[in-house]
Amino acid sequence: MSVTLVLGFESSCDEPGVALVRAPSDGRAPELLAHALHTQAAMHADYGGVVPELASRDHIRRLIPLTQQVLAQSGQSLQAIDLIAYTRGPGLAGALLAGAGLACALAAALHLPTLGVHHLEGHLLSPFLGDDRPEFPFVALLVSGGHTQLMRVDAVGRYTLLGETIDDAAGEAFDKSAKLLGLGYPGGPALARMAEFGESAAYRLPRPLLRSGDLDFSFAGLKTAVLTQARKLGPNICEQSRADLAASTQAAIVDVLVAKTLTALKRTGLRRLVVAGGVGANRLLRDQLDAACAEHGVRAYYPPLHLCTDNGAMIALAAAMRVQAGVAKPSRDYAFEVKPRWPLEELDAIETDASLKPRTDIQRG
Ligand code: KG4
Ligand code: ZN
Repeated sequence: MSVTLVLGFESSCDEPGVALVRAPSDGRAPELLAHALHTQAAMHADYGGVVPELASRDHIRRLIPLTQQVLAQSGQSLQAIDLIAYTRGPGLAGALLAGAGLACALAAALHLPTLGVHHLEGHLLSPFLGDDRPEFPFVALLVSGGHTQLMRVDAVGRYTLLGETIDDAAGEAFDKSAKLLGLGYPGGPALARMAEFGESAAYRLPRPLLRSGDLDFSFAGLKTAVLTQARKLGPNICEQSRADLAASTQAAIVDVLVAKTLTALKRTGLRRLVVAGGVGANRLLRDQLDAACAEHGVRAYYPPLHLCTDNGAMIALAAAMRVQAGVAKPSRDYAFEVKPRWPLEELDAIETDASLKPRTDIQRG
């Protein structure tokens, strides 16, 4: 049996990551051999958000040492690698170019093929990095800093969009609300920590589109409601009110995510759910989804907690799974192009199921 060793680079935003995955040719699950990550959170914290130019420069600095770390950890050499994968998009253009440039230069030097990976496909498939791997088909709730989508996943590369946010993403709602509450960056984990000390029924916040009947989301109005409430409380807001508002905000976001996910499971009739993306690390979301799934006879699958947010492992894994499924198109021409905006529906081998997604009035991309 031959194996494919895939080196993967992630550089779409603020967490340069590198990983090495082994994919057996007999179709057995790919295995993560090593991964290394650097978070730029401290560097961006002073600015209250990601500064793209700083992010790109840091990716350039970090990716080679991270690669050396991964090779040392796995005991593998550059010569053993069969394929170099990198995040092609979506993400910050400069940051993507740093990873793509390094991947293609290294591949050219080693005479290896490259594969540009869709960042969201990496998140979608990331539960396969854990011990509890789902079978196809499943519903996926993809909740990251830039995306909130419900997908039907029939196989590697066969993704049907069921619904998505029409404005802010769930992660953005966490991040922006955290900023309004003076909780710093990155906001999601900070808001979740603060919420532990608060009362979620303290403030009545909207649950946008909860009863819209479709599978789309909207979080912009919630952010405005948090802003209005924060203004009412004023600059000298006490710690308890801040914790209460954090808990109320988190509850509003989670309520909507859970309700829409249940609707997607009902409509598709599927009994497996995958939760992926940074917001998938949220404890309340996991607890509520687990409870709802148990009630409806659905099994929920999550990536290992430390692989919920961006990492190189999911990029190497997605490439490995594409190769195994025969839906990868590795390239040897080393000319690369990144796609800062890249709707998942535009990936190769994508199907759109009109009966599941009747609305056509949303601009995608
Ligand atoms: O998937 P990800 O690492 O990056 C993107 O592809 O965007 O997701 C980052 C997002 C951020 O908005 C961050 O605040 C949020 O995930 N996040 C969380 C938690 N951990 C990360 N949101 C809520 N609770 C958490 N524990
Ligand atoms: Zn991500």
